[in-house]
Amino acid sequence: KAIQEEIERFDVASKEDLEQFRMRFISRKGVITELFEGLKTVPAENRRAVGQELNGLKNFAQERFDGFSQQIEKQQSAANSAPPVDLTLPTIPNLTGTRHPLSLVRQRIIQIFERIGFNVADGPEIESDWYNFGALNFPDNHPARDMQDTFFVEKVGEEASGADILLRTHTSNVQIRLMERQKPPIRSIMPGRVYRNETISARAHCLFHQVEGIYIDRNVGFKDLKDTLYHFVKEMFEPGTQIRFRPSYFPFTEPSAEIDISCQICGGKGCNICKHSGWVEIAGSGMVDPQVIANCGIDPEEYTGFAFGMGIERITQLKYVVNDLRLYTENDVRFLRQFEGL
Ligand code: PHE
Repeated sequence: KAIQEEIERFDVASKEDLEQFRMRFISRKGVITELFEGLKTVPAENRRAVGQELNGLKNFAQERFDGFSQQIEKQQSAANSAPPVDLTLPTIPNLTGTRHPLSLVRQRIIQIFERIGFNVADGPEIESDWYNFGALNFPDNHPARDMQDTFFVEKVGEEASGADILLRTHTSNVQIRLMERQKPPIRSIMPGRVYRNETISARAHCLFHQVEGIYIDRNVGFKDLKDTLYHFVKEMFEPGTQIRFRPSYFPFTEPSAEIDISCQICGGKGCNICKHSGWVEIAGSGMVDPQVIANCGIDPEEYTGFAFGMGIERITQLKYVVNDLRLYTENDVRFLRQFEGL
């Protein structure tokens, strides 16, 4: 009776369980064989009845065993034909990329200027000395060229080729190419990569991005320059941002001005970013020098214009408090993910 109950309770879920079941109940060393051996000690008059009961038990054990082994076999063949899928494993996350902060800010700058009638122009990053410097009034050997530490490009197979080809140091080359090609009115911005031979640090990089702009037409004055850049700053930054124009010098503009805004990080109170002055420079600008206009075949008596240029890295830094330029190019997803959804 006890054995019968034990057989009923015995649950077989694996090959190992099945083997245990066999050892316990079916094999020659199992309990049922043992019971048969005990039959000798049963009084003769009971032996027949007990024997019958033992046979029943034996058959019962065998039936259960056959049932279990069929079941295990089925499981096994199912497992073999299907790929081994572990449903408890975590899924592979399907991550979508995020837009780079410099792309976000470049897009926003383009949007602001397109809405007031500027279009987007493009030009080469590998440029001749003329388009990067000469046409922009940088005289040969003039120290103004030192303002922008230049990477020169050597033509393959040619030794020091007079250092005529270079990586553009600003996108002003596109202004020259536009003015050569197109009759005024010209109203364009030129976003793009520029290169300067600077030691890479938190504040400087040998590769960065600019958006420059130019507006050439009849009767364009300094007021137009101010209006345009005021509008840009108002659209780009927090309301209440202060703007100031500071006299400056560029070989290709006269007069020239640098544009400062009240520091976006400390609200003008003074911090590391603005070096405790409360102001940060965001752009250079000025009225295009008549000589530059003439260099491109446009009559400076008839047409005047203004130009400006800004660094996208700097605008992004102020907008999103990025205090190390190197973050932009390291592709650390912890940095990039912070711009998700913007
Ligand atoms: N090209 C200047 C620079 O890269 C910026 C600038 C553009 C200044 C247009 C004045 C006018 O520093």
